[in-house]
Amino acid sequence: MAGKTPAEKQLSEASVKVSLFDSASAELISDLASIHRDAFGSISQYGWDEAAIRNLLKDDVCALVLAKAGGRHVGFALFRQILDEAELLTLAVDRVMQRAGIAKNILIFMQLHLIKHSASKLFLEVRSDNLAAIALYEACHFEQIAVRRNYYKTADGDRVDAWVYGRDLG
Ligand SMILES: CC(C)(COP(=O)(O)OP(=O)(O)OC[C@H]1O[C@@H](n2cnc3c(N)ncnc32)[C@H](O)[C@@H]1OP(=O)(O)O)[C@@H](O)C(=O)NCCC(=O)NCCS
Repeated sequence: MAGKTPAEKQLSEASVKVSLFDSASAELISDLASIHRDAFGSISQYGWDEAAIRNLLKDDVCALVLAKAGGRHVGFALFRQILDEAELLTLAVDRVMQRAGIAKNILIFMQLHLIKHSASKLFLEVRSDNLAAIALYEACHFEQIAVRRNYYKTADGDRVDAWVYGRDLG
């Protein structure tokens, strides 16, 4: 059997706890922005700053799913639900904790919450060159339903498509 990755070893010593919040302290928002910047920076995309995260969380229809391990924040998702439709707005996992199932846990937790709150569809958008995220969503049974041509602007001024994924929650 293959050996454990460093992240898996850390996780087996400190199990992951996933929880839902509809608001966050300044300290938590600062941690989220730092995870986001670091995770997205590593794939040449811009991370969100504190103000962007704070503003989203002010919206009554938005909520945060937070993963914690060993007493620290290791990943999160922001999503919004309007009637029976939900949208994953962003998802990021601490770089050193990736490939240990944290994003999968966050997505499962979020979907169980949404099902409990009568959502029947979940959508998301991902850059067509974000292979890790695409692999994750496909492993989690999302299906590609549309393409938005040249939707995202890259750091060097190029354009890249957005792939729209969705799944039924019913
Ligand atoms: C995409 C991201 C959230 C995945 O988080 P993660 O906690 O590492 O993902 P998981 O460990 O739960 O992965 C579950 C499955 O997804 C797929 N997957 C995840 N990362 C992958 C990668 N880098 N390459 C290939 N497949 C990957 C695999 O099938 C994996 O299962 P396996 O490890 O048993 O093979 C993380 O890489 C990240 O934060 N990236 C930067 C931000 C980002 O792209 N967010 C999504 C924007 S839409």
